[in-house]
Amino acid sequence: MPRIAQLYFRTAIIFLIVGISMGLTMAISQDHSAIGAHAHANLLGWVTMAIFGGYHALNPAKAERRIAMIQYFVYTTGVAVLVPALYLMLTGNPSLEPVVAVASLIAFAGVLLFAVIIFSSGTAVTRPATAAQ
Ligand code: HEM
Repeated sequence: MPRIAQLYFRTAIIFLIVGISMGLTMAISQDHSAIGAHAHANLLGWVTMAIFGGYHALNPAKAERRIAMIQYFVYTTGVAVLVPALYLMLTGNPSLEPVVAVASLIAFAGVLLFAVIIFSSGTAVTRPATAAQ
């Protein structure tokens, strides 16, 4: 599996653990105010990242490109800031709204970069051959 796919699945499972933890906390406390953070951790984190990782696993030539790693860092930064900021905003810190807004735009930029990857051709960047040991 390409490294970027592995990275995406490892990041995705962390978001699923965080998302389910929020879901269980809401269910146990019967306070559902963090519902938006729970849904976004699971859907932007677990589901979307697993799809990104799966795409790279199916397209190893594209996974080797520099844009793949740039896209990973942009998207992951956006979601990693968005989820905790949204959680805190929804649980009583409305002043975090600008952070949520900026993080959302960063995550969206990551999605647009993924669109560029999808629509680009699948030619691999050639690497210098390593000598056989
Ligand atoms: C053990 C795992 C989970 C627990 C305990 C849990 C718990 C909850 C709870 C308590 C709510 C609030 C319901 C309400 O107020 O109407 C909720 C909503 C939601 N959950 Fe989960 N959840 C879990 C897993 C997931 C997963 C894996 C996903 C997505 C992949 C997900 C997506 C959502 C969404 C989208 C909502 C909002 C639904 C709506 O607004 O109608 N949840 N969850």
